Amino acid sequence: MIRRALNTDLTDRWLRRLTAGAAVLMAAWFALRPWLSRAWREPGSPELYLTGVAGALLLLLPVAFVLAKRGGRSRAPRAWFNAHVVCSVLGAVLIVIHSGGFLRRPPALLLLAIVALALLGVWARLRGSRQMSATFSTKQPSFARPDPIARERLRELIARKRALLERLDPAAQEGTFSVTLSHFARQPRLAYAYQRLARAESRLLGTRRAVGAAQAWWRPLHMAIAWIFVLGVLIHVLTVTFFAGYVADGGVITWWHLAQW
Ligand code: HEM
Repeated sequence: MIRRALNTDLTDRWLRRLTAGAAVLMAAWFALRPWLSRAWREPGSPELYLTGVAGALLLLLPVAFVLAKRGGRSRAPRAWFNAHVVCSVLGAVLIVIHSGGFLRRPPALLLLAIVALALLGVWARLRGSRQMSATFSTKQPSFARPDPIARERLRELIARKRALLERLDPAAQEGTFSVTLSHFARQPRLAYAYQRLARAESRLLGTRRAVGAAQAWWRPLHMAIAWIFVLGVLIHVLTVTFFAGYVADGGVITWWHLAQW
C-alpha cells in the first residue's frame, strides 16, 4: 500500500493539507511550549538533540533524491519526489521543535532557509506547474523560430554536441540526452564540455527569457538555497561537536560532543 501511495501523483489538495498540517503542528508546539518540561525547551538536551538529528536526516533525504536522479539511478522518480516532499515537511517540523524556539543565533538562519525552500517548492507545485503547461501549449513567443544566423549557430552547436556524445555515451540520442553524475564520474572533461554546449544552446534559443522570471529562476534559486542549507547544517553539526565550549558560551555542555574548543 505504501508503495502504491508513493507512486501516485501528489495532488494539490494533498500538498495543501500536508503543509497546513505542518504549520498547525509547529504553532501548537509553540503554544504548548511554556508547559513543556525543560528538556523539551532547551536545544542542547538529549531529547532535542535527537529530534535535531532525526529532522536533519529527513531534510537531507532530498539530497539523496537529487543524487539518485542525477545519477540516472532512480527507477521510480515519482516515488522519490513524493518522499522528498513528505520527508522535508516532517523534517521541518522536527527542526522547529529542535530549535527550542531559540532564534537569535546563526543556526536560526537555517530555519529561514527551510521556510524559503518550502515556499518555493509549494509555489512551483501549485502555480509554477500550471504556468509551465501554459507555456508548452503556446507558440509565441516561447518557441518562436530563431533568425537565420542563430539557426546556423544552432546547427553548428548541435553537430558539436552529437560528435561529443559519440564519445561520451554512444548509445544515447542527442535530443533526449542529459548529463548525469555517472558521466561526470567516468569522463568529467567530456561531460563538462557537453554541459557547456547544452547551456549555450538554451541561451541561443532564449528558453529562460521566453518563460518569464518566476518560471525561469525558481529552480536554480531552490537548488542554490538547498546547497547553502546543506553547507550550513554541516557547519552547525561541526560547531556543536567540536566547538561545544564556544557554543555553550561558558555554560554547561549538555549534548554529545568530541571537543570543547
Ligand atoms: C536542519 C538542521 C538543523 C537546524 C536548522 C538546526 C537549528 C538549530 C537552532 C535554531 C538551534 C538553537 C540555537 C541557539 O541555541 O540559539 C540549534 C541548537 C542546537 N543544535 Fe541544531 N539544527 C539542525 C540540526 C542539528 C543536528 C543534526 C545536530 C546534532 C548533530 C544539532 C545540534 C544542536 C545542538 C547541540 C544545539 C544546542 C546549542 C546551544 O545550546 O546553543 N542540530 N539548532
